Amino acid sequence: MHPDSDSQQSRVTAGRSGSLDAAAGSAPRVGIVGAGRVGTALAAALRKRGLAVEGPVGRGEVPAGCDAIVLCVPDSEIAAASETVVGAGRLVGHTSGATPLSAMAATEKAGAALFGLHPLQTFAHGAGPEGFEGAGCAVAGSTPPALEFAAALARRLGMTPFEIDDEGRAAYHAAASVASNFVVTLESAAESIAAGAGLEPEAARALLAPLLRRTVENVAEVGPSEALTGPIARGDHATVEAQRAAVAEAAPHLLDLFDELVRHTRVLAAAKRGEADAAKPTMRTIHTIHELRRSLARERRAGRNIGLVPTMGSFHEGHLSLMRHARRDCDVVVVSLFVNPTQFGPNEDLETYPRDEVRDTVLADAEGVDILFAPPLGEVYPEGFDTRVSVGGLTGVLDGEPARRGAGHFEGVATVVTKLLNMIEPDVAYFGQKDAQQALVIRKLVRELDFDVRIEVCPTVRESDGLALSSRNAYLSPEERERALGLSRALRAAEHQVAGGEHDAAAVLAAARAELDAAGIEPEYLELRSASDLSPVERVNGSTLLAVAARVGRARLIDNAILGDGI
Ligand code: PAJ
Repeated sequence: MHPDSDSQQSRVTAGRSGSLDAAAGSAPRVGIVGAGRVGTALAAALRKRGLAVEGPVGRGEVPAGCDAIVLCVPDSEIAAASETVVGAGRLVGHTSGATPLSAMAATEKAGAALFGLHPLQTFAHGAGPEGFEGAGCAVAGSTPPALEFAAALARRLGMTPFEIDDEGRAAYHAAASVASNFVVTLESAAESIAAGAGLEPEAARALLAPLLRRTVENVAEVGPSEALTGPIARGDHATVEAQRAAVAEAAPHLLDLFDELVRHTRVLAAAKRGEADAAKPTMRTIHTIHELRRSLARERRAGRNIGLVPTMGSFHEGHLSLMRHARRDCDVVVVSLFVNPTQFGPNEDLETYPRDEVRDTVLADAEGVDILFAPPLGEVYPEGFDTRVSVGGLTGVLDGEPARRGAGHFEGVATVVTKLLNMIEPDVAYFGQKDAQQALVIRKLVRELDFDVRIEVCPTVRESDGLALSSRNAYLSPEERERALGLSRALRAAEHQVAGGEHDAAAVLAAARAELDAAGIEPEYLELRSASDLSPVERVNGSTLLAVAARVGRARLIDNAILGDGI
């Protein structure tokens, strides 16, 4: 986007008065085609500003005796309308934000110069002749005079012209949609959430409107970073958590939107903090074992306890929830970020596993993490490294079956977790129930090798529609994401059976299987096993793990639920 500032004077040169005549020949007569909201408002506004205007005429009609024609018709009709007006004016333009000038090629072939004039204003309410005043206006031209004409027309209406060429048009239009349409969407979301406080939509609107107006004014005056206030900007995580719980209660369908906005707002807040107090100690990123040990020894001497959250990065709410648990329990929180090659099979997604360390750094910092340990490959596995930690008993079933990920996967996990526990010597280490088999393997590893650490297994975090969060969800297309819901639906169906008194494993599995079938999912496995040692079960008694794995598109997804009495 090029503002029509001094730097652009050579491109959009028409001056402030008399410019229109200079650009289009003296006293240009402007014809308007299309009598909708924009066409009607444009004709009235140009007349009011002293121009000779013909129309607005209906679509398919041709305004007579004009120098310039403006097509104010729906985007899909611009090409046809431009054919209709062939020969009717030296300059032919449209008022679309999204359509390239090339849509009017027929007119250009016949000798007209083309222009675009897109008032960046919303006309939802209809617009009076003053409706354009003060707005920005995207202008384009197939020739310098056509561009100047469009810019001059914009200025005559009190708008500020910005030159947007065909290449930049989609990005410009997307920015406009975010600034206008999506703000409406957000306001509607705010009204839905306010219902949780007992407010009717009209009452919520009246309450929120002054806030919305002032916020928009602040952004316009000082920019987004300075205009940001509220709990995220203050780093008040407890309040954000309480808000999230309220949204989950009042408007669960808006929880994904809320989470995504929190994430983006945290990034904005972190950028602001970075500018404001660069001197303040925030999270440290450490890359070497030596430096990590030195820092942690200091903390330990000061009597502080240490919590570890091992991860492979690409953080989502599941990872962030582990960090929050650690933050609540521990004085020093260490998050490790290492995509561990030894736990990937030869045909798995090591190469394409999603990585974004910059984003991860911002998100971990926002959770109040003290140290992000992000070692390079050679730091964890130096040349010649050849040791594996093998946990017996649990690793030959489910994901560990040779035809699936195989026991080698859990050897890779146990090896890297052993190394991390030795490097960091945490008092507590946090894992997710999402990877139930992994959590059992790690508990056994710690028990049998006498690690002096408490293992906390935290509940699975889900999207509002039930999909368990996973870094691999990023691989899903919208259609695949919909089908992937079959996994959590299968678990819910099984839970329902057990709650209704069904204990027979085959019957419970059949109910889960029916949901997978309905979603068109062929599972790699769907099994009921003891939740403590993964031995097979015939009946759902006591604590039973229902575990499922399936490929959906290119993503391999796993999920599980604990079923049974007294859970
Ligand atoms: P990763 O897949 O990055 O997961 C890191 C931790 O987050 C694991 O303990 C996992 O169980 C937990 N987690 C993932 N999705 C979750 C969700 N939806 N809800 C709650 N917790 C969730 O698991 C690994 O990395 C690696 O195997 C690792 C243990 C780091 C060893 O390399």
